Amino acid sequence: MSSYTAHFKVWRGDADGGGLADYQVEVNDGEVVLDIIHRLQATQAADLAVRWNCKAGKCGSCSAEVNGRPRLMCMTRMSVFSREETVTVTPMRTFPVIRDLVTDVSFNYTKAREVPAFVPPQGVAAGEYRMAQQDVERSQEFRKCIECFLCQNTCHVVRDHDENKPAFSGPRFLMRVAELDMHPLDAAAEAGLDRAASAQDEHGLGYCNITKCCTEVCPEGIHITDNALIPLKERAVDRKYDPLVWLGSKIRRRGQ
Ligand code: SF4
Ligand code: SF4
Ligand code: FES
Repeated sequence: MSSYTAHFKVWRGDADGGGLADYQVEVNDGEVVLDIIHRLQATQAADLAVRWNCKAGKCGSCSAEVNGRPRLMCMTRMSVFSREETVTVTPMRTFPVIRDLVTDVSFNYTKAREVPAFVPPQGVAAGEYRMAQQDVERSQEFRKCIECFLCQNTCHVVRDHDENKPAFSGPRFLMRVAELDMHPLDAAAEAGLDRAASAQDEHGLGYCNITKCCTEVCPEGIHITDNALIPLKERAVDRKYDPLVWLGSKIRRRGQ
């Protein structure tokens, strides 16, 4: 096994401010960035705050920015950097820092709560739901999400624009709206909820200009933009400009 000493810069600080601290740290074959952060904790910086859990790319807690790129630290191999390269690790930029590499991601929990849940179809008992395999596969892609919030962190709509946060749910939760809107058994429409319209009006879909930056950083490889956001935009537009839908909404309004 070969080992070498790497130069790391790690952001240290809290909500009141901070900066990059320099470390020289041992790296061994096969290690990932999270291993090095743990070695730093064990040998040089016992109070370094870092959130992690599974070390297998499944819990979504070790999100950070490594050399400026949003990534999971446990899935970023040290072998992708040259031995001479300085590796800089900073907390996710879009969310407020609590301490060191740990951010307050509660923005995402707030947005999650704002998406109305699946509405069960009337007259179909649990266990009797039937769906075409094609529909199952479509939503299964979205279900791979590990809620690492790297897509939320990367999206330029909120990355440096706190003022957009109240009106924009971000790619992860717009994808959830899309998933429910595409669900053949979701009875939201019968209950009076137009999910595509609410994506536009309440979750800020119009802010998204389909740059695909969210898709590029998703560790699960979910095609967030192509398979969720663009179809959701198409459905929202179709409903708005469909003359039958337009006429129906006028009649409904008059009848109120
Ligand atoms: S595609 Fe839309 S949601 Fe994704 S990063 Fe770009 S603007 Fe944000
Ligand atoms: S969609 Fe991808 S990047 Fe976004 S939270 Fe889920 S797993 Fe993370
Ligand atoms: S520690 Fe769970 S995804 Fe990295």
